[in-house]
Amino acid sequence: MSDEKNPPPTTARGDVVLEAVGLTKHFPVRGLRSGGAVVHAVDGIDLELRSGQVVALVGESGSGKSTVARLLARLYPQTSGDILLHGKPVTARRGGDFRRYARRVQMIFQDPFGSLNPVHTVRYHLTRALRIHHKGLRGQALETALRELLERVHLTPERYIDKFPHELSGGQRQRIAIARALAADPEVLLADEPISMLDVSIRVGILNLLQDLRDRLGIAILYITHDIASARYFADRTQVMYAGRPVEAGDSESVTQEPAHPYTQLLVRSAPDPDDLSGADRNAGRGEPPNMVRPPAGCRFNPRCPFATDLCREVVPPLLPISPQRSVACWGYAAQVPGGLETAPAGAVLPDLGSDAVPVQLTETVHAAPTQGVTR
Ligand SMILES: Nc1ncnc2c1ncn2[C@@H]1O[C@H](COP(=O)(O)OP(=O)(O)OP(=O)(O)O)[C@@H](O)[C@H]1O
Ligand code: SF4
Ligand SMILES: [Mg+2]
Repeated sequence: MSDEKNPPPTTARGDVVLEAVGLTKHFPVRGLRSGGAVVHAVDGIDLELRSGQVVALVGESGSGKSTVARLLARLYPQTSGDILLHGKPVTARRGGDFRRYARRVQMIFQDPFGSLNPVHTVRYHLTRALRIHHKGLRGQALETALRELLERVHLTPERYIDKFPHELSGGQRQRIAIARALAADPEVLLADEPISMLDVSIRVGILNLLQDLRDRLGIAILYITHDIASARYFADRTQVMYAGRPVEAGDSESVTQEPAHPYTQLLVRSAPDPDDLSGADRNAGRGEPPNMVRPPAGCRFNPRCPFATDLCREVVPPLLPISPQRSVACWGYAAQVPGGLETAPAGAVLPDLGSDAVPVQLTETVHAAPTQGVTR
């Protein structure tokens, strides 16, 4: 089903497909008295999506996860920073360039109930998507493409092709939404909380399907979630955001099993059972989220952090590489990373994370095996 006029570049598994560098989005606050104020939704996010890999973007409500996905999908222009597709800057926002980009980078939304038109059948939704992305597809070739799409999302074509959305369960609708995204033959899927509105019993099935697409088709997947337990289960790498900023990134096993940043530690402590995908309320006891119009100076987590010093309240911590696979934006690690002390002003008092600091290993030994495939 690929478009011969615009074939995607040959990509080997593990190659970077889509990249964000210093991605930043400030939304203007509307109203007469706003005085030019902005919502600091996303500030300086770096992200690499590789062929055949899942990256989880984790953070609490309002941390900027959906804004990152919408920026990557080119639904918003960024305030600053770059988006690169196969190393080339992406600027398209409309017209043919945007349509070509949208074919390669597709988005799946949280709400499978709102994303399908209730008066149209599965056949209509998928035919429309196929015709948009593959001009001239009709007759037997169209029928074959429809069958293939349904089979890719593990739905029996004869059984589902003529159903209306109201005849489908939430999980089946989300599968149709995924099939519609696959009609474009994308290289990247941006999945914004794809399971959070589904019954607990069918969540694993959708994650298994996405893993299957990653493995069989080599699609790069951004999996957005507020639930770090599901990130461990499903993603190869995990990046944690707090109040629009990056706080920790690394292989999912290390980030979820030995969280280094005090905020990641709080997230993991609030998710007692890492195999529980129920999405039960894990926000309890985490304190107040910050004001995103006037976010805290320095480390944005400082008002909620038990280890904060004046340095944390004044200077933004850099992302420090605490292992070959792992980086953390916390002053508590500055003394343990070569060159880390030079990133702090002379004489500044560093926070002491005590026994909450993870043992920092600067050798290859820190590598943990990536999250294994899930049981189907
Ligand atoms: N179009 C917009 N205009 C103004 N502010 C916005 C807009 N979209 C998002 N925001 C603000 O940007 C911040 C980040 O929002 P975003 O939706 O990206 O967070 P999120 O991490 O996806 O949250 P959730 O888990 O609740 O979906 C929030 O403070 C939000 O109110
Ligand atoms: S110790 Fe300081 S830099 Fe680290 S998370 Fe706490 S407030 Fe932020
Ligand atoms: Mg969101």
